[in-house]
Amino acid sequence: MPSITILLQKPDGKTQTLVIASENQLEGESLQSLALNEGIRIGGACGGIGLCTTCRVTVLEGAENLPRLTREEKDFRARNLLKENERLACQCAPTSDVTILVEP
Ligand code: FES
Repeated sequence: MPSITILLQKPDGKTQTLVIASENQLEGESLQSLALNEGIRIGGACGGIGLCTTCRVTVLEGAENLPRLTREEKDFRARNLLKENERLACQCAPTSDVTILVEP
């Protein structure tokens, strides 16, 4: 069963680990949406349309289980607003196991 592991970094530097594990939950939903289903809000200033980077997450494992970069993500990377191992949670629908770090 695929699992999405979210390492949620708190303002005090401590990290909380949450695991979302269900094939049914994946079904094309974005990381942002999957997290929100569990009560975890990841950014969202632009309403989840890939224009703001407030939903930026670091992909620690499973990058191969995410879709290719969107045009917007490529643009943010070209402008150094998105690092090599970062993705926009609103733009990524995982197909299998992924571990991400969400910073405050
Ligand atoms: S919520 Fe704005 S880019 Fe993802």
